[in-house]
Amino acid sequence: MGFPVILHISDLHFGVDNDTTVLDRFIHAMDNLEVVPNFIVASGDFSYSGERSSFRKARRFLRALRERFNINDPRRMITVPGNHDMAFPSRFINVQHSLRNYRRFGFRESTYEFFPEERIVFVGFNSNVLRFKSFLVGGKVGERQLEHAKKHITTNDLLFADSFKVAILHHHPIPIPLVNHNNFDVLRDAGRLLQALTDLNFDMILHGHQHVPNLATVKYLSKYRLENEILVNSAGTCLCRRRLDDFPYNHFSVIEAHTEQIPGSVKVNVSWWWNRNTNFEPYHVEPFSYTLRRLEERLEESTGIAPVPEYSAGGGA
Ligand SMILES: [Fe+2]
Ligand SMILES: [Fe+2]
Repeated sequence: MGFPVILHISDLHFGVDNDTTVLDRFIHAMDNLEVVPNFIVASGDFSYSGERSSFRKARRFLRALRERFNINDPRRMITVPGNHDMAFPSRFINVQHSLRNYRRFGFRESTYEFFPEERIVFVGFNSNVLRFKSFLVGGKVGERQLEHAKKHITTNDLLFADSFKVAILHHHPIPIPLVNHNNFDVLRDAGRLLQALTDLNFDMILHGHQHVPNLATVKYLSKYRLENEILVNSAGTCLCRRRLDDFPYNHFSVIEAHTEQIPGSVKVNVSWWWNRNTNFEPYHVEPFSYTLRRLEERLEESTGIAPVPEYSAGGGA
């Protein structure tokens, strides 16, 4: 049984400020990774204004990336929409209409995937569920998606018990200290999302949006009143020239979740790569390493309940 290795990229922004040199250097970096990803997560902003041509380029790029790593199963590529993947006819948003080009090219709006071989669960959220265009910089997930996620995870609770649970969205669920903004916007319902993911025993959140990387843990009280920590990885932009002064580089992450290494815990290694010196290179020589305690393991120990071998995939939100 293998363990999950996730290539986390974000904010490709095809169609604006593309830099073919960065693309070449990114491909070179892919050829020099020490571990081979078996999952690819792209956390939104494939486009700049929701136009078809950019999604076409993004689809071609992502397909080539899958082929490079022999990832034949398209379910192993998880995508969520960013605010720049929405096309706007007016200042009011019709989410379904605004994402028509995004969906047309096979990108997914919400995702529920379980891979028993690597023992990993992915839940992808659309964090653009808002009425007004002006609110999109902050983003929102909304109660409907949270309720759907709760239902899905609790329905499969015992089956998912020893799996690594990853939530993916585009916007920021927590503030990041690197961004020098006076009015930095986080998700409008960040607290609701973080409490729900804590209660559902998620291990990690992957997101993008402000083009500045950050790594943090959040710990809320869970309904079980046991400690439950979530690792939050914010990705910079992988290919785009639009970078903030706080982090004027391109960036991607490689995440390994060693679920079997320590009983009752999972060791998570997060490697950041950036192109500070022309080519992409590791941000630190050693990856960031966190050991998260597993609530499921402790509950299973106390209850002695064995997992049931059945999976219900559920629909989109
Ligand atoms: Fe972006
Ligand atoms: Fe964004």
